[in-house]
Amino acid sequence: MTKSETRAPGAALERIDGPLKVSGRAAYAAEYQLKGLTYAYPVQATIARGRVASIDDSAARALPGVVSILSHENAPHLDTPDNANLAVLQSDRVAYHGQIVAAVVAETLEVARQAAGQLVVNYAEEPHDVELRIDRQDFYKPDRINPNNITDTASGDVEGALVQAAVKVDLTYTTPTYHNNPLEPHATIAVWQDNGLTLYDANQGSHRRRDDVTQIFDLPPELVRVISPYVGGAFGGKAFTHPHVMLAIMAAKVARRPVKVSLTRQQMFALVGNRTPTIQRIQLGAEQNGRLTAIAHDVHEQTATVREFAEQTALATRMMYAAPNRRTTHRLARLDVPAPTFMRAPGECPGMFALESAMDEMASACGLDPIEFRILNEPTSDPESGLPFSTRGLVACLREGAQRFGWQQRDPRPHSRSEGRWLVGLGVAASTYPARRRGSKALIRTRPDGNYSVQIDATDLGTGAWTILTQIAADALGVGVERVKLEIGDSQLPEAPMAGGSMGTTSWGAAIVEAAQNLQRMLREEHNGIVPPEGLEVRAETSDNPNAQRFSLHSYGAQFVEARVNIDTGEVRIPRMLGVFAVGRIINAKTARSQLLGGMTMGLSMALHEHSVIDPRFGDYVNHDFASYHIATNADVGSVEVAWIDEDDQLVSPMGAKGIGEIGIVGTAAAVANAVYHATGIRVRDLPITLDKLL
Ligand code: MOS
Repeated sequence: MTKSETRAPGAALERIDGPLKVSGRAAYAAEYQLKGLTYAYPVQATIARGRVASIDDSAARALPGVVSILSHENAPHLDTPDNANLAVLQSDRVAYHGQIVAAVVAETLEVARQAAGQLVVNYAEEPHDVELRIDRQDFYKPDRINPNNITDTASGDVEGALVQAAVKVDLTYTTPTYHNNPLEPHATIAVWQDNGLTLYDANQGSHRRRDDVTQIFDLPPELVRVISPYVGGAFGGKAFTHPHVMLAIMAAKVARRPVKVSLTRQQMFALVGNRTPTIQRIQLGAEQNGRLTAIAHDVHEQTATVREFAEQTALATRMMYAAPNRRTTHRLARLDVPAPTFMRAPGECPGMFALESAMDEMASACGLDPIEFRILNEPTSDPESGLPFSTRGLVACLREGAQRFGWQQRDPRPHSRSEGRWLVGLGVAASTYPARRRGSKALIRTRPDGNYSVQIDATDLGTGAWTILTQIAADALGVGVERVKLEIGDSQLPEAPMAGGSMGTTSWGAAIVEAAQNLQRMLREEHNGIVPPEGLEVRAETSDNPNAQRFSLHSYGAQFVEARVNIDTGEVRIPRMLGVFAVGRIINAKTARSQLLGGMTMGLSMALHEHSVIDPRFGDYVNHDFASYHIATNADVGSVEVAWIDEDDQLVSPMGAKGIGEIGIVGTAAAVANAVYHATGIRVRDLPITLDKLL
């Protein structure tokens, strides 16, 4: 396929689902109006470890409107060999604070909630441990880290190189626990009908949800349907199936009525995962001229007793910069906490905070400009795999960003510029994210009205998938976007990978392009280019990207930040950010910009605000709502400029696109920390950068 055939028309097309969303006609999972709907409200453990000794439900049962009460004593059996976190109400064990120990199903949400509050649960409490500390004795090496990577890597002689190094740094960085907070809280409506099950569910992939459910409830796939055409944000939090989905399905079975479970913001802090906190030690060695000789990145993080989740924190360190000697390790502490899960750029995001902060510190130690220092250590091939890069736009992003941001005017000395009572600094950091493409199916059918039906079980998390998949299909079919009728978000549509790992567009788009090509070939070869009266239907099934065996496939970016720190109060303001990205061809300039801008804003939020605080006495997150878990608001965000360099990577996808969902958050927090250092001369290695750390 030539490039001109893949040019999407309408490069900044408005969101086609926009009018439906702003007028309230796009139904989210919790909004389906079903006859006989009931409401389940979970009762959550108030201890972090132990067991449920007894439950007194007499008061709850007496409330008018209560339909059923579920506990481990009467819940249906679940088959959860791989994930004890989904063994909801299967035993009296409590593995974390906030775990579901019972639930009330009632005619109204209000009654369910009131009755849940009147259940008296008595516990046999056991000592718990919820604290990640570097001096723990029980860190262990997991078999694999996400998504399916080896835990440790080693090449050369790191210790020897560090002894010999003319310049070296040995630094420890920490990141706290974070919680995903999509606008739409998690929700599931479960409906049993004729032995079949339908779920209206907020998720990142209906097929994946369906597969979990068919396994756990021992159902044939054709009897389970998962519907999720509109999702209000996810960020990784809706990738895995969480306990409330099990609760909805079980409750609907017991109550013999449709049941809705719609989590509150507070419940989400225990029930749908979090980003693990990390303790990261980075050692760098360099020659006098700044050429790196050794890179070591040793990560300590946590998982839950109930489920192992090993975040891939040092993954980017394996491929980012050249150095003959390198080591990465990951160790886990198994704690009495809710299981960690994916959160935007899991691994790369906290890992690159540490690496890109350390690169800034090393540049200073070598007396080099941080941009020139990075460029000096550019690898010519992937340092881990030895494979050539398909495209590597890091240097282009750094140079373009430096020029746009006015980097050359920056006095390299920290604490060198002030305006009134504000110290001003500029910081930079690199970003990267893997460019994945997975196998997918798609279907295209001609319609009697001359339009095309395009079907694929893709998911739009608010990212713009509705719009760009329509553009990709229109472009591949050679017609206007108005002639494409897209259907997504339903497990009855052709199977597709979930919206995660920044691989939605590449994976789904490649299958749609292939289906369109199949259709055109069939038209040409069998029908003289004329659609027959009975219509045509073609399917496509692509495989995982075979080029991943021969090339190192990644996106890159450079983040620039201006920080202002108040001399008297330590308050940090970020008036200006710029992200320049090399992410393949952009399908839609408008939705792409929003994705990158959103990622950068989330990175700013990580740098300055977000921090889930666990109370070691009780084992729960004390700041579990928007009043106390602070995310960046409009007032925190100044000018955020997003730019990209021209790139067209046909080795990643036939559209030339890579993926843009996650890279925007990678490196942002380091750029903020580096800018704060440049402003103040104070290096903050423990996020978030709150004012107490600057006074
Ligand atoms: Mo995204 S954190 O890969 O679901």
